[in-house]
Amino acid sequence: MRKLIVNGGNRLVGEVSVTGAKNAVLPILAATVIGANESTIFNVPRLRDVEVMENILLSLGCKVERLGKMMWVDSKPLNNIKIPEELVREMRSSIILMGAMLSRTGEVVISYPGGCEIGPRPIDLHLKALREMGAEIEEAHGFIYCKIKGLKGCEIQLDYPSVGATENIILAGVKAEGTTIIRNAAREPEIIDLQNYLNKAGARISGAGTSVIIIDGVKELGNVTHNTIPDRIVAGTYMVASAITGGEIVIKNIIPDHLQATIAKLKEAGCIIYTDNDSLKVIGPKKINSIEMIQTLPYPGFPTDMQAQIMALLSVADGTSIISETVFENRFKHAEELVRMGANIRIFGKVAVVKGVKELTGAKVAAKDLRGGACLVLAGLKAKGTTEVENIYHIERGYEDFHIELKELGADIKMVD
Ligand code: UD1
Repeated sequence: MRKLIVNGGNRLVGEVSVTGAKNAVLPILAATVIGANESTIFNVPRLRDVEVMENILLSLGCKVERLGKMMWVDSKPLNNIKIPEELVREMRSSIILMGAMLSRTGEVVISYPGGCEIGPRPIDLHLKALREMGAEIEEAHGFIYCKIKGLKGCEIQLDYPSVGATENIILAGVKAEGTTIIRNAAREPEIIDLQNYLNKAGARISGAGTSVIIIDGVKELGNVTHNTIPDRIVAGTYMVASAITGGEIVIKNIIPDHLQATIAKLKEAGCIIYTDNDSLKVIGPKKINSIEMIQTLPYPGFPTDMQAQIMALLSVADGTSIISETVFENRFKHAEELVRMGANIRIFGKVAVVKGVKELTGAKVAAKDLRGGACLVLAGLKAKGTTEVENIYHIERGYEDFHIELKELGADIKMVD
C-alpha cells in the first residue's frame, strides 16, 4: 500500500501554483450532460474524483478527451440513464448528476452515494427539491429511480444552504419550464463558477453568490468553453503549510477574495499575509498563537474543508483553541491521529478543544478522509522525526501532486509503495 513518509522540521519556502477547484469542476462536468453540446473546460485538476466523474460521463455514452489541464466533453452521444453503482459509491457528489440527467433525459437511476467518511451526509434536501419540481422519485434496494414528464420551475426554500442541493436544483432548472427560484441557496464561489459555465452555454441564471438564485428555463444549450476557478481549499492547505513550518510561501493562481476567512484566522495565529491580485504570500510566525474560537460555517464563513488543516496548526500553538464544527456531524476523525503524534485534543460532540503542545512527534497514522489526510501531512511537516501517512488515496481525491509540490517547497517527503 502506498504511503507518504515525512521527516519533519524543514521550513517551507518558495512558490506554488494552485490547480483548478475540484468542487467547481465536478458540478460543471455533471452539467455537461444537460445539453447535447460540446464543452471545453480548462484548468481541470488531475484528481481521483475528477477521474470518477470522467468515467461516469463515459459510461453514460459521452465522448471525453483530456489534454493536460483541458477536458473536452461531447454529450451528444449520451445513451444511458443508469449511473454505475461502484462510481457513485466512490464519490458522493455524483448525486448532482440527478438534476443534470433529469434535464437531459427526464430519467435517471442512481445508487445511494458514498464519499467522505464525515458523517451521515443525507440527500433529503436534494430529493425534496426535485420532487417539488415535478420529479417522481422511488427509493428501493439502495437505488433511487427518478423520472419526470417535464421539469417545472418553482420556488424552493432550502432548509439549509446545502452546496450540493443548490447545484442540483440549478442543474434541474436550466431547461425547466418557467422560472425556478432558490431561497437560502448556498453562496460558495463554486456555485458562481457553475452559473458562469452554464450561462456561457446559453442558460439564464442569476444570483449565484447570493442566497437567492433565479433560473429562467431555456430550450437548449450550445457549445461552451470555460476556465475553472482556482481551488481555495488547496490554496488554504499550502497557506497552513507555510504557517506551521514558519515558512514563506507564495501561493499563485488564486482569488484572494475566496480565501478571506482562512486569511483572517491565519493572521490571528500570527501569520503575516500579503495579498496581490491573484497571489498571496504567507509568512509563518516563530510562535503560533492559539485561536479563541473557530466555527465552521457555510461560505463566506470559515470552510469546514479547512477545519482539519487548521487543527494541525493549532495543535502546536501557544495556548488553547476551540474549534466548533457546525457543518458536518462527524468530522474530527483526524483528531485521534493527531493525538497519536502527541497532540492534546479533546472532542466534545461537535466541539474540539485543542491545547497546543511544544512538539509533535512522528508516528504511523492513517488518513480517514480527504482533508483529514492533508492535516496529517501538515502535522508531519512540523513533527520531530518520521511520520508515515497511510491511506493516501483519500488525499489524492483532492490534491494533485501534493507530496511533489511540498518537496519543491523544501519538505523532506516521499511516497513509497
Ligand atoms: C460540498 C463540498 C464539500 C464541502 C461541503 C460543505 C463538493 C463536491 N463538496 O459538499 O467539500 O465540505 O460542500 O462546504 O462541492 N445536508 C443534509 N441534507 C441534504 C444535503 C446536505 O442534511 O440533502 C447536510 C449535510 O449532511 C451536511 C450539510 O448539510 O451536514 C452541508 O452539506 P452540503 O453543503 O450539501 O455539502 P456537499 O454538497 O455534500
